[in-house]
Amino acid sequence: MATPGKPKRIGILTAGGDCPGINAAIRGVGKTAILEYGMEVIGISSGFLGLINQEYVQLDENQLSGILTLGGTILGTSRENPFKKSAAFNSIDKPKLIKKHYEEMGLDALVCIGGNGTQRTASLLAEEGLNIIGIPKTIDNDVWGTDVTFGFDSALWIAVEAIDRLHTTANSHKRIMVIEVMGHHAGWLALYSGMAGGGDVILMPEIEYDIDVVAKYLKKRAVNKKPYSIVVIAEGISCPKGQKPGHYIAQEINNRTGLETRETILGYIQRGGSPSPMDRVLATRYGAYAVELIAEGRFGMMVSSRNDSIMAVPLKEVGGKLRTVPLDHTLIEKANRMGVCFGNCKV
Ligand code: F6P
Repeated sequence: MATPGKPKRIGILTAGGDCPGINAAIRGVGKTAILEYGMEVIGISSGFLGLINQEYVQLDENQLSGILTLGGTILGTSRENPFKKSAAFNSIDKPKLIKKHYEEMGLDALVCIGGNGTQRTASLLAEEGLNIIGIPKTIDNDVWGTDVTFGFDSALWIAVEAIDRLHTTANSHKRIMVIEVMGHHAGWLALYSGMAGGGDVILMPEIEYDIDVVAKYLKKRAVNKKPYSIVVIAEGISCPKGQKPGHYIAQEINNRTGLETRETILGYIQRGGSPSPMDRVLATRYGAYAVELIAEGRFGMMVSSRNDSIMAVPLKEVGGKLRTVPLDHTLIEKANRMGVCFGNCKV
């Protein structure tokens, strides 16, 4: 059982899809907890699965060294949702089991690093009486309650480098290049990489597109002697069932314009590798602040960034809500003025 009074032993887990910066956050939590507050830090394996199966290790300061720049998560991750029935655990009451194991492990608090799904689970576990702190991460940048999640900046760099490379090959062959970036529900990555990479067309889940508008726009560019075009799309845009968005859009453009079109699907490359300097700093700040909240006994909160200040928002308010790109976002407005096509523009 956890001891009353000051938190002495804290757990940390990473859940959902991985992203660059998770290890920097683990390090931020761990080093602050051990060095500043003299706490013990327990690393739980594979997200909530590790709490169900009681798979964990104690992390000492040495194990937290040398991981700042490392991609992925040293703890492993899974998409296990303890509040969802699953065949693997049949009739087991997973939240009850997690609570039991949390107590048996002698945890005074649990830090949950993850995206929307994880923050929702974290909020429900807080309601069950566990002392929870959430840390938002995802390359999609779509966690409600924070201006930014770590992982996004790193993925942005990767996407932009890919788009930069597409420009030269597109120009050589006078082709249209469609590039599909991640983002199931939110178009942050498509919008930012599209703008940073000089995309001519940007399609994102938030803006309904008309493929005829896109085709007309690209044809006009060709008529105006633009040798090539770059089309950046989010994986979450609407497209016929069973079709892959990147492939579908490339095919439709080719059919409608007669212009040679190729597609690139960037995929998991966006989630791998070393975090960008900005993500290292953000993840470190989130991690360190999470421990401050624990030390102050402010549980049931998610660490967040607002106007570059690190603060806390109640997990209850976050509750897995999505932060999509607002249609009046200043970047969309600027892009519109510069002639970027979002598939809904008049040509
Ligand atoms: O982490 C978010 C995300 O990268 C989405 O953009 C993507 O669709 C999803 O994860 C895919 O993850 P997985 O295949 O690991 O479930």
